[in-house]
Amino acid sequence: MIGLFDSGSGGLTVLDALRKKAPNADIVYFGDIKNAPYGTRSKEELASLTTAGIRMLQNFGTDELISACNSAALSVLLGAAGHARIIDMTRPTARAMRQYAGKRVLLLATPATIISRLYSDALETIVLLDPLPIAELAAAIEFGASRSTIRDIVRSSFRERKGRQYDLVLLGCTHYPLARDIIEREAEKMFGKVEYIDPAEAVAEEAAQRFHTEGRGKLAFKISKDSDHFRKRVAELWPDAKYTIQIT
Ligand code: DGL
Repeated sequence: MIGLFDSGSGGLTVLDALRKKAPNADIVYFGDIKNAPYGTRSKEELASLTTAGIRMLQNFGTDELISACNSAALSVLLGAAGHARIIDMTRPTARAMRQYAGKRVLLLATPATIISRLYSDALETIVLLDPLPIAELAAAIEFGASRSTIRDIVRSSFRERKGRQYDLVLLGCTHYPLARDIIEREAEKMFGKVEYIDPAEAVAEEAAQRFHTEGRGKLAFKISKDSDHFRKRVAELWPDAKYTIQIT
């Protein structure tokens, strides 16, 4: 059984990509809403939250894991999962980015992901990478901020890069695709037409290839704090699926 975790709703974008590729996979999803957002937390806090999230998923019976959270990737790569089979967001993404050699890439991510340098170290020699941390965006999306608030956060971050040009925008936080239309509109105004890379694709592809995906398509959600926003997103993404949501 496959387990995915994130600080909240962001990993749903990875789950969505995975279910499109592997509709019969049995999946448990853990969203640590009580401790969200992760992206402004210290390396030490992230290490202990990641270890706890992984243990929780293992206790639910999952043995193949996806850390559907870029901010947790460093903890995963430093061993938070022990010997468990686990896929993090950054390695499949870095591999997928090789096809864009020489491009100018704007990396949008949380401060924790930018500070981890995982994308910088993997991509700096391949593309022209410009990392832009956006501190408030994941929380705004998670806790249901208005579209205008989200737009203002994105706009003021993009202003820091005014006058620059990019070929690609890398959505380096799994929450960001949930506000993709706003990000796209603001990016077009500031930088002109650019392409978008959503790492969910590469991560889901790797999971579909490496993990056991022939089950009954069971879907169970565990969240550390109840959230109407989370419930609404799940209902919107899988209107016809049978699933359970449990507060842990
Ligand atoms: N969605 C996660 C990520 O990809 C965490 C965002 C957050 O909780 O700050 O980084």
